Amino acid sequence: KKVVLAYSGGLDTSIILKWLQTTYGCEVVTFTADLGQGEELEPARQKALLLGIKPENIFIEDLREEFVRDYVFPMFRANAQYEGLYLLGTSIARPLIAKKQIEIAEKVGADAVAHGATGKGNDQVRFELGYYALKPDVTVIAPWREWDLTSRTKLLEFAEQNQIPIAKDKRGEAPFSVDANLLHASSEGKVLEDPAQEVPDYVYSRTIDPEAAPDTPTYITIDFEKGDPVAVDGVKMSPATLLAKLNELGRANGIGRLDLVENRFVGMKSRGMYETPGGTILYVAHRGIESITLDRGAAHLKDELMPKYAELVYNGFWFSPEREMLQALVDKSQEFVTGQVRLKLYKGGVHLVGRDSPYSLYDQELVTFEEGAVAYDHRDAAGFIKLNALRLRTLAQRKKKLGL
Ligand code: ARG
Ligand code: SIN
Repeated sequence: KKVVLAYSGGLDTSIILKWLQTTYGCEVVTFTADLGQGEELEPARQKALLLGIKPENIFIEDLREEFVRDYVFPMFRANAQYEGLYLLGTSIARPLIAKKQIEIAEKVGADAVAHGATGKGNDQVRFELGYYALKPDVTVIAPWREWDLTSRTKLLEFAEQNQIPIAKDKRGEAPFSVDANLLHASSEGKVLEDPAQEVPDYVYSRTIDPEAAPDTPTYITIDFEKGDPVAVDGVKMSPATLLAKLNELGRANGIGRLDLVENRFVGMKSRGMYETPGGTILYVAHRGIESITLDRGAAHLKDELMPKYAELVYNGFWFSPEREMLQALVDKSQEFVTGQVRLKLYKGGVHLVGRDSPYSLYDQELVTFEEGAVAYDHRDAAGFIKLNALRLRTLAQRKKKLGL
């Protein structure tokens, strides 16, 4: 029996690793991914070796480019926001991790996979829907739902009994839980659980306080090709490099903080704090370039479908036919979403100040109040309004007749 574990190298997943070995008696294969969380990966390898994992059973991969190119950018083409605000930073990373775990399972002939998400959240759902979609007969092990290590004390005891090194700062309970990648850092739980209380300063890690941001605005340009950003200030960059660059600009200007109470898929409300500096800039920029390159019908249909798309990503249905159908629609809409926007970053705000495209539908000749446009005849407007008013006039007449 072999199991592929999503392994961060931290205390909790190290405990899971040992628990899998001792409880299930299975051979553990570890998978550690760089998604831009900002942690070194080599220590995870050393830790795995120390815990008795064979070198050939340790998999470490840099997934940053794939993450941004094949997951983050496709999602931003849709302008996806869950419940109107959340840019889905955690949600979008889970399907990629699940996919890689399954690939490794196939490669090493493992029949099981395991993850370290709790039994109360969304992440367990996202991981497992991903696993089952890609390997329908897989065995899923979710230790947090199974074991009896139900308190911090029991966890630490287990770690000690099994010679798992515990960093000094890990003795006490973490003041809140963090999930981070190139798109965002999210913090939840403990000190953040009371939604009436403001998020303490020390929770923020990706942005400076907007009040402390520079008093002079930063102007930047972003170039788009078919809906994806390709350059910042005229410099072409790979997807992950570009997002990292926007993160840097966002951090320095205090952009992308969000304190949110959201509805989890499993039913309860939860309060979280998100920092999505680069993503917040990208969202505004993308809407800006769409504003001149998308036709109204296309733009409005896309906006109507967006909440559905966002919900599918949030609920973990990335590998579903309905998400793929919506993606095909969104991608088709981006054919001419090419051009440049200019943005002003200032004290937590992202302001779109200019847009330009070789495919612009914006027609100054058509919109100007001056006389001159040929395609638009003022006299047509009178009939257009009259016919649209017909129903409203009929209703008003009935109201009048009834004395209402
Ligand atoms: N509530 C967010 C989501 O469901 C983040 C979950 C993980 N975050 C964390 N700090 N553990 O996408
Ligand atoms: C977890 O439960 O592991 C994190 C929170 C979530 O998945 O919603």
